[in-house]
Amino acid sequence: MRRAFVTGTAGFIGFHLARALLAEGWRVYGYDGMTEYYDVALKRRRHAILLQSPGFSATEAMLEDQAALQAAVAEAAPEVIVHLAAQAGVRYSLEAPRAYLDSNVTGSFNVLETARAAGVRHLLMASTSSVYGGNETMPFRESDKADLPLTIYAATKKAMEAMGHSHAHLWGVPVTCFRFFTVYGPWGRPDLALFRFVAAIEQGRPIDIYNHGQMWRDFTYVDDLVRAIRLLIDCPPARPAPGAAPPDWDTLSPVAPFRVVNIGAGRPVRLLDFVEAIEGALGRTAIRNYMDMQPGDVPATHADTALLERLTGFRPETDVATGIAAFVAWYRDWTGGRA
Ligand SMILES: NC(=O)c1ccc[n+]([C@@H]2O[C@H](COP(=O)([O-])OP(=O)(O)OC[C@H]3O[C@@H](n4cnc5c(N)ncnc54)[C@H](O)[C@@H]3O)[C@@H](O)[C@H]2O)c1
Repeated sequence: MRRAFVTGTAGFIGFHLARALLAEGWRVYGYDGMTEYYDVALKRRRHAILLQSPGFSATEAMLEDQAALQAAVAEAAPEVIVHLAAQAGVRYSLEAPRAYLDSNVTGSFNVLETARAAGVRHLLMASTSSVYGGNETMPFRESDKADLPLTIYAATKKAMEAMGHSHAHLWGVPVTCFRFFTVYGPWGRPDLALFRFVAAIEQGRPIDIYNHGQMWRDFTYVDDLVRAIRLLIDCPPARPAPGAAPPDWDTLSPVAPFRVVNIGAGRPVRLLDFVEAIEGALGRTAIRNYMDMQPGDVPATHADTALLERLTGFRPETDVATGIAAFVAWYRDWTGGRA
């Protein structure tokens, strides 16, 4: 039986990944600190569902607690670690930047040290399209420079990527960093646009539409994202032979078993079209409150997905109308008329 250690299993993406691995017969060890960034009841419900599967167990502790993390990984003896726990969210990083340093820098460093001690076959870590920051050339390609973070969130994720490279180089831990592009779907995060828009429209409240709707996001449906992660688990990067340059289509480091991979749909959607798709799924019209762009936001994201396709043969296919409909069905079930 294959064994995975997954951080952030009470979170949106970790929950979906753990479910997919369990369905495939993996033994999954979860780890989550149940932070109060958003509704802890939603996190507890996700863990409760996972715990119905005999192949799942979880430790409730923070990444910053190195002893707890080390003990949990030692007990799990995993073949792979997928590190998804983080202080996420672009906007909150303007309010509480230190939380990002603690979780994403200190916490991720602890995960790297633990992976090294455990000698895992592959460590995969969640970074973000936000690391492309002020870049204007679209689509965002992994080989583009990403040295212009616009928020502390992006800066801490970039730091995590850099630490991943040094650990891969010094200690030979194969590391893949994903750059996720705006993930959405059932069991999604209450702080993200889809959840906030659906809740507000259902309750007859106005929705804030930033940059007057002239925003484009490469929305990625969570099932597609999980499929991509699953396929990348079996693509651990290898250290290139001395003097042998990696192929030009890859982001493999010339000196370390390390690569960065975008996971996005590769099809940006205009925010106003996204709102219209939500209105269509709900059968209700939104009250629109047009606003200027927020500090730290970028007008557009667009993933180049060529590397993901080349490595895995997979390209995200789900269109936003289908994905939003699945979210709305879940949301109505979850709120059970409480909304
Ligand atoms: N959802 C997206 O659109 C998106 C986009 C880009 C990158 N990401 C990245 O993907 C990963 C998963 O995101 P998500 O949307 O599932 O977020 P989430 O907030 O739903 O899940 C993160 C989980 O990590 C836990 N956690 C946070 N800090 C912790 C700490 N210090 N110690 C232990 N546990 C801690 C939280 O309790 C939570 O359950 C994150 O690394 C995030 O930065 C997400």
